[in-house]
Amino acid sequence: MTRTENLSIGLGFDVHPLVHGRSLILGGIEIPFDRGLDGHSDGDALLHAVIDALASAADLPDIGEMFPGDDENLDRSSVEMAHEVARRLAVNGTKILSVDAIVIAQVPRISPYRQQLRESVAACFDVDPGRVNVKGKTFDHLGPIGREEGIECRVVVLVQKRAAS
Ligand code: CDP
Ligand code: ZN
Repeated sequence: MTRTENLSIGLGFDVHPLVHGRSLILGGIEIPFDRGLDGHSDGDALLHAVIDALASAADLPDIGEMFPGDDENLDRSSVEMAHEVARRLAVNGTKILSVDAIVIAQVPRISPYRQQLRESVAACFDVDPGRVNVKGKTFDHLGPIGREEGIECRVVVLVQKRAAS
């Protein structure tokens, strides 16, 4: 098998509202801020977008199918969901080659946490931090993200699937 065989890309997206009274959890870490992301789980839009991108690339059910919005998943840690997805990828022989993510947030600033975020996301999916990148971007004050009503994440991944025997 050559290195370029069985490659598959996946695209993930997620958005959650910013609300008072919640901690801001992104990529499995807490970022100091006066608001946090609302949601059925901990609202970690970054991990959710990575999970969806990986699930797509690896032909797994999407995040809502794997972790339905029922009581069992209420306030469930997204890190736990990420570990479960990493386990499923390992079982079906899919290797994560690259993860690239954009956190689109008018506030707070993501730059100071880039290294911490890449290390945390990498640990969640059991990959080398060198295979993960995370950067921040505003929406230039346009639309709901620009009005600080939420945070959006976009993620692309590259995986290598097990060769068909
Ligand atoms: O300057 P331009 O409008 O193209 O971009 P921006 O959205 O203002 O972001 C400029 C830079 O700020 C980004 O390239 C990031 O380095 C940083 N940034 C950040 O760290 N965290 C955010 N939530 C938004 C932007
Ligand atoms: Zn989500």
